[in-house]
Amino acid sequence: MSSINKSGSYQLGHRQVRRLGYGAMQLAGPGVFGPPKDPAMAVRVLREAVAAGVNHIDTADFYGPHVTNQLIKQALHPYPDDLCLVTKVSARRDEKGGWIPAFSAQELTQAVEDNLRHLGLDVLEIVNLRSMLDIHQPKEGSLEAPLTALAELQHRGLIRHIGLSNVTPTQIADARKMMPIACVQNFYNLAQRADDALIDQLAAQGIPYVPFFPLGGFTPLQSQVLVDVAHRLQATTMQVALAWLLQRSANILLIPGTSSPAHLKENLAAATLSLPPAELQLLNGVA
Ligand SMILES: NC(=O)c1ccc[n+]([C@@H]2O[C@H](COP(=O)([O-])OP(=O)(O)OC[C@H]3O[C@@H](n4cnc5c(N)ncnc54)[C@H](OP(=O)(O)O)[C@@H]3O)[C@@H](O)[C@H]2O)c1
Repeated sequence: MSSINKSGSYQLGHRQVRRLGYGAMQLAGPGVFGPPKDPAMAVRVLREAVAAGVNHIDTADFYGPHVTNQLIKQALHPYPDDLCLVTKVSARRDEKGGWIPAFSAQELTQAVEDNLRHLGLDVLEIVNLRSMLDIHQPKEGSLEAPLTALAELQHRGLIRHIGLSNVTPTQIADARKMMPIACVQNFYNLAQRADDALIDQLAAQGIPYVPFFPLGGFTPLQSQVLVDVAHRLQATTMQVALAWLLQRSANILLIPGTSSPAHLKENLAAATLSLPPAELQLLNGVA
């Protein structure tokens, strides 16, 4: 626990979480569809993450679907008091694993109820509305109707905080006129820097930014600069990529995903890696 404490902590909803967390998406089967090959290993990864001090886990009921939430419940329920489980809604899966937008009030209500049941909770700590206006990237368009539906579920006591995912700065500003926004989860890493200005803006507003695909996602980051820096610091490339994010801004909370206990251990050890200014400068040039 002492080593992950070195990542520091930040306010998420009304909890203080360690900045190194865990993303559960990789625990489902190939293509985030169906069960994993080794469910016992998935349970082990979750338990080892929490034992190491992780108290922020990202999930969604459409991972599997249902699979990662069921694994989280199996591995960790009853949950430690300080564990912040963050889920997301607005998509469902078809019979081949395709990702289908599910934005209506009825679909969002169903998704919240499914998350509650599969996680074994009475209230969801944070629910991110994941925009599906474009599945791959943020796209302008009104999110007022789905946010109104989530606010109603919040009013019913099923959701504590609302966040946003795959969104533009305009959508965040519009949403903040309707309600407090607990966090923003967008695609960002060493090589994918479209949100640089947004991160600084959110930092000034005290809003956590949670990059998804912090290691590059399905195709982990590859860069000779990263390899060279890692070699000089006697670290791994993935540790350098995570340490760079931790040093990028204090409001960045990490949720690297892995299905491997060895990778989990390696990733959490990034909390102790400090990048000297000269190496940071080289890494900043990767994008
Ligand atoms: N809001 C959204 O739209 C959205 C989209 C995507 C993801 N997410 C969330 O963000 C989280 C993080 O994204 P992600 O898991 O897809 O991608 P990621 O964290 O960038 O990378 C995960 C990939 O890197 C590999 N990996 C992890 N640690 C490694 C290490 N130390 N050495 C070598 N390879 C390593 C994993 O394989 P192994 O299993 O073999 O380690 C996996 O293939 C997800 O778990 C999910 O909760 C949200």
